[in-house]
Amino acid sequence: MTHDHRVARSMQLYERARQVIPGVTQLISRRPTRAALGVSPIYASQARGCRIWDVDGNEYVDWTSGVGPIILGYADPVVDAAVKAQIDRCSISSLVEESAVELAEELVRLIPSAEMVRYSKGGGEACAMAVRIARGVTGRDRVLFCGYHGWHDWYLAANLGAERLKDHLFNGIEPIGVPRCLEGSAIPFPYGDAGALEDLLRRHDGQIACIIMEPMRTERPPEGYLEEVRDLATRYGVILVFDEVSSGFRLALGGAQQYLGVTPDMSVFAKAISNGYPMAAVVGRRDVMAPVERMFVSSAYWDDSIGVVAALTTLRELERRQAVAHFERIGALFKEGINQAARDAGLDAECVGVDAHPGIRFYLADGSNGDTAALQLKVNTLFIQENARRGVILAPGFFLNCAHDEAAVRFTVEAVRESMATIARGLRQGTLDQLLQCEVQQELFRRLVR
Ligand SMILES: Cc1ncc(COP(=O)(O)O)c(C=O)c1O
Repeated sequence: MTHDHRVARSMQLYERARQVIPGVTQLISRRPTRAALGVSPIYASQARGCRIWDVDGNEYVDWTSGVGPIILGYADPVVDAAVKAQIDRCSISSLVEESAVELAEELVRLIPSAEMVRYSKGGGEACAMAVRIARGVTGRDRVLFCGYHGWHDWYLAANLGAERLKDHLFNGIEPIGVPRCLEGSAIPFPYGDAGALEDLLRRHDGQIACIIMEPMRTERPPEGYLEEVRDLATRYGVILVFDEVSSGFRLALGGAQQYLGVTPDMSVFAKAISNGYPMAAVVGRRDVMAPVERMFVSSAYWDDSIGVVAALTTLRELERRQAVAHFERIGALFKEGINQAARDAGLDAECVGVDAHPGIRFYLADGSNGDTAALQLKVNTLFIQENARRGVILAPGFFLNCAHDEAAVRFTVEAVRESMATIARGLRQGTLDQLLQCEVQQELFRRLVR
């Protein structure tokens, strides 16, 4: 495969990985085929603050923040010191540690829906736990969902029989390995349409265990929408779960639920909770969570102290550093810079959404063959390629962290101005294919909640 000599070592490792690791990475969003394969870096040697160094020695300003987990910055000295001290004391033993109680108390203090707390290690795993709890508490099987909730059977079951996940996840996912008997157990609903949700609740009255949804991503929900969802869940006696794996801690320390003023019955947090150490929490009202004592919800590493201490330290540091105010300030600056860059480049693109968690959109007319989705993939790939060539890891979706500063914004805006000028030229002259030095990115990680 041809590639830019700047990423020669990354590409060598990639070829080796293809022989021994199916899919190459463990997270689909980290797959090199979803970036600009052959131009953008694949393997890191080090990351610090908001910067990553790849195995070829190139330095990048990174906006992906590890696909969400990094909220204070890579290798944060305070969190890492706490983790190192914990390692010296012991990572896990036959007993549990006081920090497990302290973290639960901290989550109860910070998160509106939290009265009791259970831990796990990943976002998808924690969503599966929340669904199990909801099914256990209600004695019902069916789940209504909106957004992305991980890789487990309960969720991918939505695609059995028909491709129902395509508006919430990738197009064309085959639920390979998911038991066919789960067909009909997970039913999607469209974001922003309370009427559609009520129709489903009415049609399946008495059968729904929970509504699980991402409360928001970059854009605020339509006025009154989440309040209506809250009200519907209460009226139909269904447990409302907010999946805050991606929204948690950037909009408000108490999550999107605090930011938006709508309190679910249960919530799921992971990723940014611990600044890069595996950790997740399912939190909820006492009457929903207390029955977990009688359910088989149990795993050895859920008691490990590394994740607990990383999370405790991360939450305290977010508060001490006034992280949310930082995200709002840096996010606003970033949006302003990117929007000016788009105007300068004459490109119909925009950085949109709330300041603390914005996203970039390209407004594209139909491609030459009328296929806007294909054109979107080309433009995204070219954007990632051109940014990488200029020392920036930035795709249309990204996550801010506390290490992003004015200098990183300035550097990035200069790179993006040139990247956008290249895209504008390619669109104007119909030369996108010639400008791409790599294969077009495979299907976007599409989500209904933007
Ligand atoms: C909203 C949401 N839920 C669940 C998950 C799955 O989390 P994990 O990849 O840690 O299993 C993600 C990951 O992107 C997510 O954004």
